Amino acid sequence: MQRVESEIARLIKEVDYDEVTYLFNKLAGGKRLRAKLILKIASEHEKAPLLAAIVELIHGASLLHDDVIDEASTRRGVESVNATDGSKIAIMLGDILYSKAFTALVEFDRAIAKAISSSVTSLSKGEMQDVKMADEFNADEDKYLDMLYLKTATLIEAAAYAAALLAGKDAEKHAIYGRNLGLSFQIIDDILDITSDSATLGKPAMNDYVEGKCTLPYIYLYKELDEKDKERLKSSHAKLLNEDETLWIKTKIQEYGTIEKSFLLAKKLSQDAMEAVKGDEELTQILQTMIKRSY
Ligand code: FPP
Ligand code: MG
Repeated sequence: MQRVESEIARLIKEVDYDEVTYLFNKLAGGKRLRAKLILKIASEHEKAPLLAAIVELIHGASLLHDDVIDEASTRRGVESVNATDGSKIAIMLGDILYSKAFTALVEFDRAIAKAISSSVTSLSKGEMQDVKMADEFNADEDKYLDMLYLKTATLIEAAAYAAALLAGKDAEKHAIYGRNLGLSFQIIDDILDITSDSATLGKPAMNDYVEGKCTLPYIYLYKELDEKDKERLKSSHAKLLNEDETLWIKTKIQEYGTIEKSFLLAKKLSQDAMEAVKGDEELTQILQTMIKRSY
């Protein structure tokens, strides 16, 4: 991972603008899940750290823009750039990061460059769907999962696919692994938004519903409730929740076991991911660590 961090630092230095170096150094690095995945799949290849750096810059750019869109005040436990330096700076820093990443992609074969760059179109489509879907209460599970696939899984899928191409491994199987891991990861993230406290999350708890995002535990809950309670749940959608409503929602979620139900789907997707790369201990390990995060 040290080599990935050096590649990231080198690309940022090449931007040749002190303000960008300063702002970038203020960002917390995060878990670097995508980079770790690339290194595990293409460990032998000398260009794996550069590919990992590219994907992390794209991911970082998407989070900078996402925080502007979500008007978030924290990211990875520290104040977000839009909060400290304003939305204009956050957007442009994001633009610099992902354009720099795209420039570096020319170092790779066309198939790799295409996989990574087209996944950015998908993730932008997913983000747009996410924003639009938050306008109204959504109880459609498939629609929600389609959006999640685009918003979160496509970049991980592309990272795994591209790393496999680089390493001369089965790219299709690794793409299936990345896609299912990405979906499972986001479902667990959605669960943690409800089950964790704000100190652990580095952002307010139960914020998804306040932002209008009907994640799986809410979708499953809606299906279980009677008409009156369906209306009550919908009336809290996309609003700041008071203590009574928070407690009511949490009690109902517990009563109907919708966290457990969501977790079962995350687990099934993880199993599908493991199945795709059967026998690869390291890739299996990444998934197991991720699943454990939810306890
Ligand atoms: C986090 O979702 C956001 C994403 C995974 C994708 C965001 C994508 C864009 C803004 C498209 C633009 C892309 C580039 C490269 C500039 P979330 O809000 O559910 O998660 P959070 O709780 O971590 O904020
Ligand atoms: Mg967000």
